[in-house]
Amino acid sequence: MSDWKIHRAPIIQTELEVPGDKSISHRAVMLAGLSNGPCLIKGFLSSEDCLCTVGAMRSLGVQIDFIDETTLIVHGVRRVFTAPLGDIDCGNSGTTMRLMAGILAGQPFRSRLVGDASLSKRPMKRIMDPLGQMGAKITAEGKEGRPPLTIEGGNLEPIHFLSPVASAQVKSAVLLAGMFAKGKTSVTEPTQSRDHTERMLEYFLVRPQKQGLTVGIFGEQTPESREFQVPGDISSAAFWLVAAAAQPQSRLLVKNVGLNETRSGVLAVLIRMGAVIRERITSPQAEPIGVVDIQGGLLKGTEIKGAEIANVIDELPILAVAGALAQGKTVIRDAGELRVKETDRLAAIATNLRAMGVTVTETESGLEIIGGSSLRGAKMDSFGDHRIAMAFAIAGLFADGETVITGTECVNTSYPSFYATLEGLFREGNEDQTRVITSLIPR
Ligand code: S3P
Repeated sequence: MSDWKIHRAPIIQTELEVPGDKSISHRAVMLAGLSNGPCLIKGFLSSEDCLCTVGAMRSLGVQIDFIDETTLIVHGVRRVFTAPLGDIDCGNSGTTMRLMAGILAGQPFRSRLVGDASLSKRPMKRIMDPLGQMGAKITAEGKEGRPPLTIEGGNLEPIHFLSPVASAQVKSAVLLAGMFAKGKTSVTEPTQSRDHTERMLEYFLVRPQKQGLTVGIFGEQTPESREFQVPGDISSAAFWLVAAAAQPQSRLLVKNVGLNETRSGVLAVLIRMGAVIRERITSPQAEPIGVVDIQGGLLKGTEIKGAEIANVIDELPILAVAGALAQGKTVIRDAGELRVKETDRLAAIATNLRAMGVTVTETESGLEIIGGSSLRGAKMDSFGDHRIAMAFAIAGLFADGETVITGTECVNTSYPSFYATLEGLFREGNEDQTRVITSLIPR
């Protein structure tokens, strides 16, 4: 198990890029695999989670060639897969398991999806219900719909599914299954979740129909093979954005980052907290890609709740850290979904903030954080959760004394180069720290 040691850091004055978006990398490989020919994917995130999706698609007969770490060619099989020879290992990746379940529900063969200890505790009933209604036979070996899952698919009927959760994974599983049903399959969600699947279907010329919170798709269409550029992951950028936002005089420019409105709520929250942020879309492709320019200041507490939650769901650990660094109270409500992520993130955040001396109250579906007192360095666990590890590494940059994060290998699921970037940013004599930023965005 590897540990990180973190110390208080100077202000940030630099520009950087982050690796490819995790959600979009998964979907790019899946849609390209379903398509009618070779697709060049650029900016792919070669992290453990996304490589599980590559492995899953390969096990269904899709040839995938890596040109370099972030560039690959996926040879689409026109929606005709071959049965896997063994179990499909989804590792730690909920997106791989839930979205692949949607694809596999449409296949006339049996497959078995397995995952690591954390994924084996995560709820799958949310996808088993709609996919079962469509006609797939899915059995869970774990208690109350926990993995492993065995899927016997084929002959799907279209449904209209009213999703009880605002989950892009549930929505995407149903839409991907809908590609194998005769007629129109649609999903209505309670609030808008990330819309990458819809955008990518559109881009690959399978026209989804969107009306308010409902999205529908006509089955039996084959995506057209195309080149696709994955933007930088705003969820990875969020760690550096908070590090800059909470430090007066800091200035950070993040380039080539995804600015999809269903994902960029972290910017709105940081602006409410007092950060000065400018963003500009530089490449309005299937997914908008742009630059974020952020200036730090004295942050103030805020409330994050309701429809905004789905938009910042993966950023809540680092926003909770921002809350601890801000003056006043930060309240997170309606975020019960955090209890069923890679770990129970509400409990993990509360435990680690308390270890750093922060007053925090954990509610059933949220947190109340009293910010503004000085943080003290502490030894904290990642709880096997990449976003907890990275959020508290950033907290350590603001703490007195040494912060140690244990069990940091989990970061390889989404951001393998995180610690190298952290070290590079704050290495003594780092030229980047004194580089004058020529802002792309006029002030
Ligand atoms: C994801 C959707 C979200 C998010 C996860 C990735 C996706 O999960 O938390 O990290 O790629 O669709 P839910 O769909 O469970 O909200």
